[in-house]
Amino acid sequence: MSKIKVLTVFGTRPEAIKMAPVIKELEKNSDNFESIVCVTAQHRQMLDQVLDLFEIKPDFDLNVMKQNQNLWILTSDVLLKMKEVLEQAKPHLVLVHGDTTTTLATSLSAFYARIPVGHVEAGLRTFDKENPFPEEINRMVADATSSLYFAPTQKSVDNLINSGIKDTKRIYLTGNTVIDALLMTINNKKTDISNINLDNNLKTILLTSHRRENFGKPLENICNAMIELVKNNNDIQVVYPVHLNPNVRNTVYSMLGGIERIKLIEPLDYAPFASLMKKSYIILTDSGGIQEEAPSLGIPVLVLRETTERPEAIEYGTVKLVGTNKEKIINITQKLLDNSKIYAKMSNAKNPYGDGSAAKKIVKAILQNQDFLFKKVF
Ligand code: UD1
Ligand code: UDP
Repeated sequence: MSKIKVLTVFGTRPEAIKMAPVIKELEKNSDNFESIVCVTAQHRQMLDQVLDLFEIKPDFDLNVMKQNQNLWILTSDVLLKMKEVLEQAKPHLVLVHGDTTTTLATSLSAFYARIPVGHVEAGLRTFDKENPFPEEINRMVADATSSLYFAPTQKSVDNLINSGIKDTKRIYLTGNTVIDALLMTINNKKTDISNINLDNNLKTILLTSHRRENFGKPLENICNAMIELVKNNNDIQVVYPVHLNPNVRNTVYSMLGGIERIKLIEPLDYAPFASLMKKSYIILTDSGGIQEEAPSLGIPVLVLRETTERPEAIEYGTVKLVGTNKEKIINITQKLLDNSKIYAKMSNAKNPYGDGSAAKKIVKAILQNQDFLFKKVF
C-alpha cells in the first residue's frame, strides 16, 4: 500500500513547539508516512529557534511575516500561498494546530481544495468571540473544516460533540502534544540559563503577556501591578521575556524599563524557557501553552485573562484565573507569596494535559484512517 502523505502546516512559536513531536513521530514511521512540512513563518525568529531545536527542515517556507502585520494581510497571504503548496504537495491530509491565523487560513485553503484536514488541539472553546480574539473563531473554523479531530482533553471532546460533529468516531482523545514537547526538551536539551543573571536569593516571578485583547489598558494594568509588587516585596524579582510583537514591546519597555528587580529580556529559546519555568516560584501569564506546561512542573500559574479555554488545570487547583485588574493581580499574587498553605496547594504537580504520548496517539489515529484518507471523501 502506498504511503499517506501528511502535510503539516504551522507558523508561530507555540504551534511549532506543539507540532514538533507529531512531525518527529511521522518521521519515525516513514514506512507508512511521507511527512511534508510547510511553515508560513507568521513568526520568523520565534519560529526558527524551535525548528533548530527539534531539527525540523521545512519543505515549504512561505516567509509571510511583516513587521506589525495585520489580520487581513496575513490571512489573505497564507490563504493564497497555501493554494500553491497544496497543488504541489498533493497531500492526503493537512495537519493544522490550534487557533492562529495560519490555522484559520490553512484549514480554509485545504477545504477549498477538498483536502481533508486534521486539527491538532481541536475542541478548545471559551464560547466568547472576543476572548481570545480572534482565536476563538479561528479554532471554530478549523474544527468546521476538519475531518479528523485530535482533542487534548475530555472537555474538548465534549465541546466537539456538542458543536454538532456527527462523525464522532473521528474524534480522538490524545492529550496535548505540548507535554510531549516539554518532556522531550527538559530531559534531553541544553537548558543553561546562567546568562539571565537571576539573583538566586530572590523568588522569581515569571511574567509573559502578548494577547491582542490585553493590548492597551489591560497590559498597562499588568505592568503597574508588577511595579507595586516589587516595591512591596524586596525578596522577589520579576523576569519578563518580552514578545516580539511591537504592540507589546512599546508598552512594556516604556513602563517597566529600568525598574529595580524587574528584568526585561528577549524571548527565550524553548529549552532555556522550560528551564526558567522550572526555576520560577510563580508564573503570571496570558499564554495558552504556559498554562498547560507549568502544572506539570508544579509551578502555580495566575492567568492574566478574563476567560480561558483551558479550564482543566483550574479544576485541578494549579491554575487560577485572575484577569487584568491591577488590584486583583496584586492581591492574589501577594496571597500566594505570603500564604504557604495556599502556595503548597497550588504547586501540586498535577497535569491534566497528558503523559507525553499525544503525538504517538495522533499518528496511530491517522494510520487507522488510511482508507478514509485515500478515498478523498472529506
Ligand atoms: C500570534 C497568534 C496568537 C498566539 C501568538 C503566539 C494569531 C491571530 N495570533 O499572535 O494566537 O498566541 O502568535 O506567540 O494568529 N514578531 C516578530 N518576530 C517573531 C514573531 C513576531 O518580529 O518571531 C512581531 C512582528 O512584528 C509581527 C508581530 O510580532 O507582525 C505580531 O505577530 P502575529 O503572529 O501577527 O501576532 P502574535 O501576537 O504573535
Ligand atoms: N515560550 C518560549 N520562550 C518564551 C516564552 C514562551 O519558548 O520566551 C514557549 C512556552 O513554553 C510555550 C509557548 O512558547 O510552549 C507559548 O507561546 P506563546 O505564549 O507565544 O503562545 P500561546 O501559547 O499563548 O499561543
